[in-house]
Amino acid sequence: MNKFVLDTELISGEGTIEYVRTLPFKKVCIVTDTVMVKLGIVDKVTQHLSASRIAYKIFDRVEANPSLDTVNLGLHHIIDYKPEALIAIGGGSVIDAAKAIIYFCIKTKETLLDITQIVKPLFIAIPTTSGTGSEVTSISVITDSKTHTKIPLKDATMLPDVAILDASLTLSVPRAITADTGMDVITHAVEAYVATGANRFTNLFVEEAIDLAFNNLLKAYENGNNKEARQHMHDASCMAGIGFNNAGLGINHSLAHAIGGQFGVSHGRANAILLPYVIAFNSGLEDNLLKEFGVPYAKLASRIQIESEDMAVNVRSLIEVIRQFNKMMGIPETFEAYGIDSEAYFKAIPEMAKNALDDICTTSNPRTVTLKVLEKKFEQAFKGTSF
Ligand SMILES: [Fe+2]
Repeated sequence: MNKFVLDTELISGEGTIEYVRTLPFKKVCIVTDTVMVKLGIVDKVTQHLSASRIAYKIFDRVEANPSLDTVNLGLHHIIDYKPEALIAIGGGSVIDAAKAIIYFCIKTKETLLDITQIVKPLFIAIPTTSGTGSEVTSISVITDSKTHTKIPLKDATMLPDVAILDASLTLSVPRAITADTGMDVITHAVEAYVATGANRFTNLFVEEAIDLAFNNLLKAYENGNNKEARQHMHDASCMAGIGFNNAGLGINHSLAHAIGGQFGVSHGRANAILLPYVIAFNSGLEDNLLKEFGVPYAKLASRIQIESEDMAVNVRSLIEVIRQFNKMMGIPETFEAYGIDSEAYFKAIPEMAKNALDDICTTSNPRTVTLKVLEKKFEQAFKGTSF
């Protein structure tokens, strides 16, 4: 069975932020963070709203790894103001917070009203980084700051109705974040390409995302003002998001979530460091099972101009290209080089491996994994190894 859903209207290109002028509404609510306000990015949207005489209220309290408390504050904000649209302007954290606000708003109303009376505000996502693909997924991760646990939410009500992909809003993203988020895009694409839900429809988006990301990430990193490279990365991020929202992800993300929770490694950087080690396992390269698992990786290698009759050469070259990308963008090869204390790391491995095994992303990994496999990956990603 091939299953594929795309329900978000996509508007892409330089200057497309002007789209908000066409909204047939009287009042909207903006969810964002203080950085977006300070950088003037929120102004770029509100000037168009004002030009169309659309009133707006700004909720700018979203922090990195948004908490349940913040979501509650935002919820009160929109319940009081009753906007016809909710516009999220920011990176993954802002869009995730806006999703959770919409989710709890609808759930709260469902307990009070007849379901037919509930009108969901139009949800518009305007990403300002190119990485998470959150603008086209129905997933949000919120942190419970009391218990320090992540609360993953998945519900169709959280899927943005419209995503505006205007890369002119990403020009001020610092180099390190361009690198981390860009490698997150590549990890999404690689994982979605081999995930259990991958099919010809998801592959179409993932292959285009791979082409765009491998051809433009280094250009966007070298020159943040390269508008063309920025737009290509913005589109690639969205396409990879469409891919993984349908196909699923894999253990790269499970391991990254676990180490992010334990040592605060940024999501994209953790993915980037882990990717070579995960490909070595998932492709069958390190345990001589290439014939069984290596084919999609060899196909991916050929998309980025690695041509060989030998599947092992293809997969090794793919891993090497990813390592070179990391190296050229200052991303270390191991978590030891990243600076994590050895004793603390090895002590945490059993718990991190267990968390990774229980992670939802593990269910769509192309190969079945055990605790032992995940522990080995954490060990390799600390000490480094060649394949
Ligand atoms: Fe990711």
